[in-house]
Amino acid sequence: MGSLDGKVALVTGAGGGLGRAHALLLAHEGASVVVNDLGGDRHGVGGGTSMADGVVEEIKAAGGSAVAHYGSVTDDEAAAGMVKTAVDNFGRLDILINNAGILRDKSFKNMTDDEWDIVIDVHLKGTYLVTKHAWRQMLEQGEGGRIVVTSSTSGLIGNFGQTNYGAAKAGIAGFMRVLALEGMKYGITVNVLAPAALSRMTEDLMPDSPETADRLAPEKVSPTVVWLCTDEAAKVTGRQFCVSGNRVSLLSWQVDVITQKDGLDGPWTVAEIGEAMADSMENWPKLLKPMEV
Ligand code: NAI
Repeated sequence: MGSLDGKVALVTGAGGGLGRAHALLLAHEGASVVVNDLGGDRHGVGGGTSMADGVVEEIKAAGGSAVAHYGSVTDDEAAAGMVKTAVDNFGRLDILINNAGILRDKSFKNMTDDEWDIVIDVHLKGTYLVTKHAWRQMLEQGEGGRIVVTSSTSGLIGNFGQTNYGAAKAGIAGFMRVLALEGMKYGITVNVLAPAALSRMTEDLMPDSPETADRLAPEKVSPTVVWLCTDEAAKVTGRQFCVSGNRVSLLSWQVDVITQKDGLDGPWTVAEIGEAMADSMENWPKLLKPMEV
């Protein structure tokens, strides 16, 4: 018996990499899966059916249940169609994994408007559109649901050459934080995944070695994602999980007060703030150190 028997899941961008690994494990745990993928090249250009079909075949060969969908997450009609595919084939939708993504890395001075727009479109707008239709379906069913959105340490921490991607991924995290609050009364959890895995997307960015392929196999990220979809995880919502290989971390929020006085007093002077900052820079390395996980 699987932990997701009877559940229905939709995974976007599931034709390869992390999405494929999530889809296979969801199916292994008993969920019926809609495998969405545009099937384009690694830049998200073009389209095709073979990537999604290939994963559907793998799931079926392993005894699971799956159906393909080939639309783009950037298209409202296609996003509606993904949810409809779940309902038409399996009767409902319980789980949405927003995973589809592309890169257009450039230092900010070289970035074009097109490179900015397409990354925001696929990641942030795509997450919004598919979630919009899934949310409606989950509310109509009235039995809660599970949503995982895919962010990145690029958006949560920062990474050189990815202002477009970082903005989209930070936007996704903000989207999750608000939606998680709105989902509480409906029993719908919403969590962020910030993964690290060797995939088509990252093969140029990571060392080309069997050790990396093993240490950062996408399959190592999926168990956390799938657990978040189980009944056991019903109370876990609004959280950010960094999963890098076999290391699973919770990225938590911390507020560090630098200086403070009674709120009814007048404002600080600029010089007073300068003094507090100077003192912090001297005695508290955290102020000058870049964030890291
Ligand atoms: P990948 O390139 O192997 O998979 C992305 C999939 O999304 C591809 O199969 C692609 O065809 C599909 N896709 C692209 N545009 C689409 C669209 N408009 N509609 C539907 N499908 C579309 O990359 P990977 O690494 O598996 O990435 C999955 C997610 O994880 C992405 O959101 C990525 O940004 C995120 N991520 C990955 C990291 C890594 O280390 N691999 C690090 C941080 C985040």
